[in-house]
Amino acid sequence: MFTTNTTASASSKPITPRDRSHDIADHLKSDWLGDNPFLTAFFNTLSITFPAGEKFFIDSVRHYRGDISDPKLSADIRGFCGQEGFHRREHQRYNEALAQARGYDLDKLERVMTRRLAWAQRKMSPLSNLAATVAIEHLTAVFAERLLDENSILNTAEPEMRELWRWHSAEEMEHKAVAFDVYLQVGGSEKQRRRAMRRVSLLITLELMKGICYMLKTDGHLYNFSVWRQGIKGLFGKQGLFTGTWAPYREFYTKGFHPWQQDTSHLLEAWESETKALS
Ligand SMILES: [Fe+2]
Ligand SMILES: [Fe+2]
Repeated sequence: MFTTNTTASASSKPITPRDRSHDIADHLKSDWLGDNPFLTAFFNTLSITFPAGEKFFIDSVRHYRGDISDPKLSADIRGFCGQEGFHRREHQRYNEALAQARGYDLDKLERVMTRRLAWAQRKMSPLSNLAATVAIEHLTAVFAERLLDENSILNTAEPEMRELWRWHSAEEMEHKAVAFDVYLQVGGSEKQRRRAMRRVSLLITLELMKGICYMLKTDGHLYNFSVWRQGIKGLFGKQGLFTGTWAPYREFYTKGFHPWQQDTSHLLEAWESETKALS
């Protein structure tokens, strides 16, 4: 039993899973994000990685639940697993509808990622898998921050798609420190989490590129220069998805980093107000 009190969450609020379903099947037939085939393929590829990825995160965190004595962190673990469980279900539905709508081979798209994660669970230590989870949760939180921003690229998306991605982003923001706090409590080192970040950054980039190329090829856009130009602009241009993300990404490598150093609670509050106003 680990009892050190190293949890540094700025959020004392409980982590509440929100069981939402999204009626998106029709939108997946089109380039739902600003009529931009590259960006649509980018988000669709991300969605492909979620069901297996989120199962891996749940397993990695849950492995240590019996070692946590802090009641708040134990409750946060339950909230984390509940939220990731609902994300997993919604993205599985998303992916099946996407494959049907656009003729993608879902097994082919999922295969390498699923095998790689199964291999990690068999061959790597639980702490190494938790370190990978901590690193990916940080990437997700940095990305979620961009999606919840008032000038988000999602403002150009079909409303139901925007809602789904913002719901997922808001919950990622809410639970962004849970895996990290578990990692601290069970004695994970800074060196190991930095190494994990270098590894997962490379693997995720390759996985995304592979998925995007497959989708663009299937949709007949792979050799369309203007599709790539629009996509690169959407990622790195003035309002681009990755614009401004380098500094928060790099912070992960600093000594003593904790996810709540980047206080993003205002974004979550803004999303909650918007959701309430719409319901
Ligand atoms: Fe998630
Ligand atoms: Fe997450």
